[in-house]
Amino acid sequence: MTAPRLRRVRVLVLGSGAREHALAVALAADDDVSDVLVAPGGPGVADVAEVVAVDPLDGAAVAALAREREMDLVVVGPEAPLVAGVADAVRAAGVDCFGPSAAAARLEGSKAFAKEVMASAGVPTAMARVCTDLGQVAAALDAFGAPHVVKDDGLAAGKGVVVTGDREEALAHARSCLEGRPGAGASAVVVEEFLDGPEVSLFVLCDGTDVVPLAPAQDSKRLLDGDEGPNTGGMGAYSPLPWAPPGLVDEVVERVARPVVAEMARRGTPFAGVLYCGLALTSRGVRVVEFNARFGDPETQVVLPRLRTPLGGVLRAAATGRLAELEPLTWSDGAAVVVVLAAAGYPASPRTGDAVTGLAAAAAVPGARVLHAGTATGADGTLVSAGGRVLSLVGTGATLADARAAAAAAVAEVGLDGGQHRGDIAVGAAEGVRA
Ligand code: AMP
Ligand code: GLY
Repeated sequence: MTAPRLRRVRVLVLGSGAREHALAVALAADDDVSDVLVAPGGPGVADVAEVVAVDPLDGAAVAALAREREMDLVVVGPEAPLVAGVADAVRAAGVDCFGPSAAAARLEGSKAFAKEVMASAGVPTAMARVCTDLGQVAAALDAFGAPHVVKDDGLAAGKGVVVTGDREEALAHARSCLEGRPGAGASAVVVEEFLDGPEVSLFVLCDGTDVVPLAPAQDSKRLLDGDEGPNTGGMGAYSPLPWAPPGLVDEVVERVARPVVAEMARRGTPFAGVLYCGLALTSRGVRVVEFNARFGDPETQVVLPRLRTPLGGVLRAAATGRLAELEPLTWSDGAAVVVVLAAAGYPASPRTGDAVTGLAAAAAVPGARVLHAGTATGADGTLVSAGGRVLSLVGTGATLADARAAAAAAVAEVGLDGGQHRGDIAVGAAEGVRA
């Protein structure tokens, strides 16, 4: 008699962006995963998952859904539910959850807290001062000199940071952050030293004790080609990084991820989930630019297609304190490039409701995949834009040049009035130039 097959895993993904679409694609491709649900999702993710209309910020509703639909694992995509304690609510309902507690998600939710943890753990980062009035800001700007870096202390969806050579602009940003939340006693800005050198995003899976790094990627945060224009949530990314120094990943694990995980455990708020290490490779060594408590968007769209190890088991191991038992991850030698198609007016005031066309032709490009972010079904049943970043066009191939070509061919097929995208994602790396 053969043993009964173990029940296959049912996974609920929270979020509605292209990152969550990429997670759902990878989970659906895992033979040990039987069902993928996404809440709230959108029209695009229905190709691989069941879309459920539940508010991901409502911990009680998410926990009830997970219980009712007999989920084995909940994967939290964005930061807002983490900071709101949704992972705590899911775990309290007896369901495994990939994503840190609200207490541990403060590593992303408060830049001042992240700096304090890094100082305690001896992690290399930019020198910084936490300021609660404009006099302190002015003194800090003068102490560090130009270029100036001013950050809103709280969550700002990638738009709370201004990097500028203009002292007046730096002061104006600080003023708007400090005045933005009148009466909110914790209102603060962080002024810090400018870090030169290329940026790297490294996702490190954590289970409270152990850590497992994924492959590094590079995100392009500025709106326009040549790294011009305003900061955005991310306009494109690629992986691997042929120019990265050998040993970079091990160095970040030893000098950044392990000390932070140990410090968080020591404080009684263990970090389990993904620690997104935003790094600058400066002339004086690796420095942490920021931590996030979740996968990066759009970097996830290029890291997951290269991961050969089935994703469900990996996330479950992190969620249940069993990373030490995981076999070493395996990766494809190939490359992936993502180009983000953003709406007219993004990032300041994205226009919504524009027709989005050509997706079948884009998806038919060899090596290309269309992932949805800000899309919705319009009144007449056709697809319309519904957010700042509308689509992620992912290209994969043997080399970065092949992957770039596939992503470019896909984006060329899409119609979106006023749509904005970068044409230079991974161009230097594909040509063998340092980032
Ligand atoms: P953050 O939200 O902290 O990741 O900042 C967003 C972006 O601003 C980063 O990805 C960098 O491109 C830039 N940035 C942040 N901090 C610094 C810094 N200290 N020096 C130079 N650039 C920075
Ligand atoms: N791509 C930057 C982020 O996810 O924060």
